[in-house]
Amino acid sequence: MTTVLQIKSSLFGERGQSSQLADAFTAAYQAAHSGTRLIVRDLAASPVPHLTAEGFGGFGAEQQERTPAQRAAAELSDALIAEIRAADVVLIGLPMYNFGIPSALKAWFDHIARAGVTFRYTENGPAGLLTGKRVVVFATRGGVYAGTPHDTQTGYVRDILRFLGMTDVQFVYAEGLALGEASQRKALAEAGAAIARIAQAERLAA
Ligand SMILES: Cc1cc2nc3c(=O)[nH]c(=O)nc-3n(C[C@H](O)[C@H](O)[C@H](O)COP(=O)(O)O)c2cc1C
Repeated sequence: MTTVLQIKSSLFGERGQSSQLADAFTAAYQAAHSGTRLIVRDLAASPVPHLTAEGFGGFGAEQQERTPAQRAAAELSDALIAEIRAADVVLIGLPMYNFGIPSALKAWFDHIARAGVTFRYTENGPAGLLTGKRVVVFATRGGVYAGTPHDTQTGYVRDILRFLGMTDVQFVYAEGLALGEASQRKALAEAGAAIARIAQAERLAA
């Protein structure tokens, strides 16, 4: 059985464009793979707190030595890591907010990047431990940035995923969503077509 983990990071929860694109992908994926298990982590509905020095310190501490705040941070981190470890396919909703990734998503990355757990340092440099996963990212933006130096998201998200061991990463973009109705319609139609293409390839491979 395939497990899909869907990360929602839109402020608007399931109404967010990035959430809706990921939902469309999930539906297509489930149609192609019977018995898919879906885990949804909605970072707007249940925000992951900012990582603090105390919480970070607790990640490396022995369980019995952790303060209550460290225990809470480590338990949340353990739960988030268990979800992504279990996933064969990871779907990430990636809205652009104020020229960057949503702070909720950054907080999630901060809680799943754990030395000795999801990556380790070797004599050849860091090695990611979350391997063998396929990732599809749904990037939604009011403006148009893909392929320009103003796209602060694609490089960062690819880098952190690679650092954690995920190298099979595809981006679906819907840009120009704030540039009028025609622009929005076109962007969503193109993103929908990209999702259908990927889903069709899945069906052929299944
Ligand atoms: C708080 C906020 C900040 C935004 N900042 C940007 C921005 O810097 N650049 C941009 O192109 N669009 C920006 N937008 C537009 C969003 O990228 C666009 O609405 C997109 O659909 C968000 O994805 P979502 O619908 O999944 O939340 C912003 C929207 C909000 C609500």
